[in-house]
Amino acid sequence: MEPILESVILHLVRPEDLNHHGTLFAGQMAKWLVEAGFITASRLCGKPQDVVCVQVNEMNFKKPVNSGDIIELISRVAYLGATSITVNSEVHRRGDKGALISNMATFVTVDGKNKPYKHGFSLTEEYISKNKGIYEAAVKIRTRGNAGF
Ligand SMILES: CC(C)(COP(=O)(O)OP(=O)(O)OC[C@H]1O[C@@H](n2cnc3c(N)ncnc32)[C@H](O)[C@@H]1OP(=O)(O)O)[C@@H](O)C(=O)NCCC(=O)NCCS
Repeated sequence: MEPILESVILHLVRPEDLNHHGTLFAGQMAKWLVEAGFITASRLCGKPQDVVCVQVNEMNFKKPVNSGDIIELISRVAYLGATSITVNSEVHRRGDKGALISNMATFVTVDGKNKPYKHGFSLTEEYISKNKGIYEAAVKIRTRGNAGF
């Protein structure tokens, strides 16, 4: 069976999702992005109960998102370590060129005692070359580490 490496999730932006300025609240967007990454990592390993998030990387908000907008989150596996799954998520809106927001998040497969275990998945050369940009960005983040925080 082919591993699932991508998820597409749609959200309707509603008045309760907005900030005091009348545009989408960053905290709500962060929640949707981490959720999209979690869904993608969980669909790959098949065990949502074993997936925990260890890192949420930077989020760049390039354009405002408004009430009534329908946004599309495209979430793709960017890198697979032995126990880690790094996922890139991008937010798109019909009619806009490029991603409105992008983010990278890393998840780890853990057992019932919270001990990391090998998920056993790897990316093919073909997938890596097709997704070179996000693969290289994930490698860079991994090399950089968590800056000791
Ligand atoms: C997940 C957890 C058990 C991992 O423990 P750990 O001691 O860091 O485990 P390891 O050092 O063996 O690392 C496991 C993997 O996570 C990666 N990792 C650990 N910390 C990381 C970080 N800050 N950023 C990116 N990757 C990280 C490691 O590189 C390793 O990946 P690999 O198997 O691909 O090489 C532990 O960090 C934890 O319990 N974190 C809390 C998770 C949680 O509650 N999340 C919800 C957020 S509120």
